[in-house]
Amino acid sequence: MDLSLTEDQEALQKMVREFAAREVKPLAAELDREARFPKELVRRMAELGLLGIEVPEAYGGSGLDPISYVIAMEEVSAACASTGVIMSVNNSLVCDPLLKFATEAQKQRWLVPLARGDKLGCFMLSEPNAGSDAAAQKTTAVRDGDGWVISGVKNWITNGPQADTGILFTMTDPERGNGGITAFVVDMHGEGVSRGPKDDKLGIRASHSCQIFFTDHRVSDDQILGQVGGGFKVAMATLDCGRIGIAAQALGIARAAFEAAAEYALDRKTFGRRIIDHQAIAFMLADMQVGIDAARLLTYRAASLKARGQRHSVESSMAKLFASETANKVAKDAIQVFGGNGYVTEYPVERHFRDAKITEIYEGTSEIQRVVISAGLLRRK
Ligand code: CAA
Ligand code: FAD
Repeated sequence: MDLSLTEDQEALQKMVREFAAREVKPLAAELDREARFPKELVRRMAELGLLGIEVPEAYGGSGLDPISYVIAMEEVSAACASTGVIMSVNNSLVCDPLLKFATEAQKQRWLVPLARGDKLGCFMLSEPNAGSDAAAQKTTAVRDGDGWVISGVKNWITNGPQADTGILFTMTDPERGNGGITAFVVDMHGEGVSRGPKDDKLGIRASHSCQIFFTDHRVSDDQILGQVGGGFKVAMATLDCGRIGIAAQALGIARAAFEAAAEYALDRKTFGRRIIDHQAIAFMLADMQVGIDAARLLTYRAASLKARGQRHSVESSMAKLFASETANKVAKDAIQVFGGNGYVTEYPVERHFRDAKITEIYEGTSEIQRVVISAGLLRRK
């Protein structure tokens, strides 16, 4: 097993690391404080080809592999976790299902502008009463002449306030349960689509989410993504990939918290020694490093299975579960290393702590990742 990066992956890592250090990290605290959507960074990510990383060049993307995507997500998220999730939604929750399930005409119409970064996407699965239980969809699409009429509410939609294009899940046949769910690709500026106020959040404050309301919104057959009744499988297959992106986001947050803590521990002195010379602090840093490396290996494994075209539901959930729990532990311990300075906004670790929490919730809570992992175990019996 070769664990080294290819020359191209190393070049991408260098490019994104420099972009993140020069343009993203200096803005992160201000974006968080002001809960400001980083429009200028989204434009730069489009220019750098970071909004459609795995989309072939023929469809406006960068044509890179899943490991490259993970590398870029880690680098951007280490600098600013909010910017990381904006990028991950466009890549893995919007471009990816279009690449997998759209017709050629749909790819030309919807995927190309998203992969180029001319448009921004969102993914609308969750509802007020359908979060973990994603099959409990109440948004309906009702057949009407040669099209469909959509009504319902979607909750916590990341990029919702800004999105131009959305992947939408609806119930088209309630009798058939999860087999009655259909996915559509929708124009977010269309008639009958409106947005609630942006959510006021604990962390990732520069990434905006909101409710989306559909009121008799009309769509045509050529907006169906995949098959009528096949929407739940589109959602699940998309989340198999999305969870790799969130694992990489968590990895970035953990790395940023660790690097800040290590630097501080080398500098701060108590009882006449650097605090890193107290074993309690040195061991905390050692445990952080182990957790981060293990999370990275799990994340790369899930991405490499994706690259080989193998099913990776369980491996994606393992990566997301472990990386998100690692990010939370590392960020919490980083505050401890900083002492009182860890608790105030002058230093970045309190932001990493707040940003880390969401990685245990979205794209499936940690409990749901354990459901997926244990269901995989049962399938093998
Ligand atoms: N790929 C393809 N098909 C899949 C699949 C997968 N990964 N997982 C399940 N399926 C299929 C099953 O084979 C089954 O098919 P049949 O009916 O033909 O046998 C069907 O889907 C139903 O599967 P389950 O019985 O396992 O479904 P369930 O209702 O028990 O739910 C669940 C399973 C894993 C809990 C799922 O509901 C789930 O993942 N919930 C969490 C939702 C979630 O992650 N939401 C994230 C929203 S996006 C977001 O959060 C973005 C962001 O923040 C940035
Ligand atoms: P619930 O499903 O109500 O769960 C509540 C608690 O019960 C959790 O601890 C959960 O783990 C536990 N629980 C539930 N069922 C089980 C079970 N079977 N076994 C064990 N424990 C269980 N959704 C989108 O579709 N698109 C987005 O872009 C998006 N972005 C988001 C951004 C943010 C900032 C947030 C907060 C959420 C976002 N979501 C998005 C929604 C997110 O995916 C859901 O919040 C998440 O899946 C959990 O659903 P819920 O909040 O309804 O919690």
